Amino acid sequence: MNLIELIGRFHPVLVHLPIGIFVLVIVMDGLTRFDKFTYLSASIRLILGIGILSAILSLVTGYTLSLEGINNQDLVDNHQWTAIGTTALFTIYYFLRQKLMAKRLAHTYTLLLLLVMLAWTGHQGGSLTHGEGFLTEGTLDAKTITAAPLDIKDINQALVYKDLVQYTLNQKCVQCHGSKKQKGKLRLDDLSWIKAGGKNGNLINTTDPSDGELIKRILLDDIDEHHMPPKEKTQLTDAELVIFQWWINAGASFDKSVAALSPDAKVIKALASFKAENQIQEKTIVKTREPIDKLDEQIKKRLEKMGWVVSTISLDDNHIRLIGYNIEGTINDALVAAAEISEHVIELKLSFSALKDNDLKNLNQFINLEKLWLDHTDISDNALKQVTALNNLGYLNIVNTKTTAGGVKNLMNLPNLKMIYLQGIKITTDERLALESIKTNANLYFGDSMKSVITDTIFVKKAE
Ligand code: HEC
Repeated sequence: MNLIELIGRFHPVLVHLPIGIFVLVIVMDGLTRFDKFTYLSASIRLILGIGILSAILSLVTGYTLSLEGINNQDLVDNHQWTAIGTTALFTIYYFLRQKLMAKRLAHTYTLLLLLVMLAWTGHQGGSLTHGEGFLTEGTLDAKTITAAPLDIKDINQALVYKDLVQYTLNQKCVQCHGSKKQKGKLRLDDLSWIKAGGKNGNLINTTDPSDGELIKRILLDDIDEHHMPPKEKTQLTDAELVIFQWWINAGASFDKSVAALSPDAKVIKALASFKAENQIQEKTIVKTREPIDKLDEQIKKRLEKMGWVVSTISLDDNHIRLIGYNIEGTINDALVAAAEISEHVIELKLSFSALKDNDLKNLNQFINLEKLWLDHTDISDNALKQVTALNNLGYLNIVNTKTTAGGVKNLMNLPNLKMIYLQGIKITTDERLALESIKTNANLYFGDSMKSVITDTIFVKKAE
């Protein structure tokens, strides 16, 4: 672990300091309105100053933590800017406080604004540690797949816009240009939005097709900052580019079939590759999780007392995610307690914890585990032996651990394993090649290529 990482790791602990201090300042400031508490006024400036210093430290540690890049970058960016904004506001308040105190109403609104900003920043940070969207970039959520399965028997009958163009937009653009986010004031999830265009107006120029904003963006050089999709995201394939160009040059109709737009030889070839590239989806295995009863409240409380963060996977699924960021006592004890409800647990996160190999002795009881985070801990190959029993495991993160190629090799036979994140572990180029040549479904992510993987297992709730 290098110094930068070490500094970054203090962030989740340190942030509680400015939050606590700022809340205290707001409360004290409010209380000074009452005669009984006017004496508090004298100390607020000092406390506020300390709060600002601790906020700046949190910004620095947060920034270094973000360099590890293990979170959703968009969420991190948002969090970063709100945090900077909040710190700036408190700093301005520090200097203007005296003046504001005289104007009661303005002072009240300022305090409310500060409180809202603080809560917002804290909430964003919380979403990052508690895993909303954590490392799910590049995987499609079940909804996207089920809403738009590629179902083309005869490519000539396919509708160019709906089956090819919109299908591609859904996979590669809509996460930033859809109902949740509208980067560049643009939505691409439906033809009415596409016709409406974005910040710079029309997307498609029917009189001069090569001049439309959409085609220009996707054809720009990869490294141009205006290139779409942004360079760190899954790019359009050559076949998709050919199909987009063909569709736009032919007038960007929203209802014509492939045959009606008479594809030439180049396009026919692209259509064939497009079909092949997306064939994976036709093999999609739909796997059902057995429904499970709601977790007993008593047990939940007991686990939370030990430091576990316990949350259910979704509103209609009682399986749970356990996060052991702040376990009191040994992790082994915490896992023994958690094993009591092992069937409930499908996600287990022990990242950045004091985890040791011996702590995982009963990991094999967590038979339903689908995702496991052991990253940034001292575990070695011995710990990975316990992982080999987890037949449902699809995702494993062992970034920055003492594991080696030997340990990873033993995992490659796990039937459902799709993804192992292992950057930062000691593996030679030869070992890496040997691992990559093993024929399995598991993809290895070494941190140097941004290829993202379409999951081919989706879990849906079994009808009760
Ligand atoms: C990771 C997020 C992200 C993804 C994925 C993404 N974009 Fe964008 N897009 C942006 C951002 C941010 C902007 C605004 C900045 C800019 O104009 O470059 C933008 C702007 C645009 C614009 C310009 C809108 C206007 O009128 O100014 C177009 C067109 C566009 N994107 C098309 C696409 C297409 C097509 C895809 C998929 C092939 C795509 N984008 C995927 C983030 C994304």
